Amino acid sequence: MLIVANWKTYVDTVEKAKKLRLTARRLTDKANIVLAMPYPYLGMFGKSKVGLAAQDISESTKVDTGEVTGSMLASVNASYVIVGHSERRARGEGDALILEKVRRALAHKLTPILCIGESERDMDAKYLAVVRAQLHAVFQPLSQKERLSVVVAYEPVWAIGKTASESIQSTDLAEMVLYIRKVLGEYLPGKSAAKVTILYGGSTEPGNVRALAAGSGIDGFLVGHASVDAPTFAALVKAIG
Ligand code: PGA
Repeated sequence: MLIVANWKTYVDTVEKAKKLRLTARRLTDKANIVLAMPYPYLGMFGKSKVGLAAQDISESTKVDTGEVTGSMLASVNASYVIVGHSERRARGEGDALILEKVRRALAHKLTPILCIGESERDMDAKYLAVVRAQLHAVFQPLSQKERLSVVVAYEPVWAIGKTASESIQSTDLAEMVLYIRKVLGEYLPGKSAAKVTILYGGSTEPGNVRALAAGSGIDGFLVGHASVDAPTFAALVKAIG
């Protein structure tokens, strides 16, 4: 399983970052762990079994003030980057910008973790069209090789930042994973769609992670609040490790 810890802005001191990294190092025999940290901490940690991810990347290819580029991220050993998180989409990021960011990540051999997910569930299943459109906007323009390098993180917005009891049910997650693979099958030949890594994110906690992992077809998790408290994160990883 791939566990990506999305630290967001929760981890606001170097000391906290170091402590969490130490906890993660002790868990690498249980899962493939990647820490998505704020930019200032990335350069502090070298290559190790704990992978590094950025939480965003600049789409800019010109000289710009205040932007963080793919080449900077690659040079501090980041190997993943979250793109299109719903908290970035809420700040105005649209599909075209997200596609550019995915392209910049791929250009620097960073694996983009493309976040998709509906804001709400409706009786008419319009949420499926939302998910399809978000996938289409990025997958359609990419080459076959590029498509296989994208990790998809399904994060229903309604489930983010809540508690396990308000998270998705594993049967609903299993259905969504099947649907995502079906959509990906439109852009990838043969059995390739089955090879794309799909993560789930949205109130994953030690108490529900095992149920969500079992039988849902998910390849791992993008974990927010439960990843920034060392004992909670350790319990979460051990629950599936
Ligand atoms: P959460 O966040 O685990 O706190 O719901 C997940 C995310 O936003 O990536």
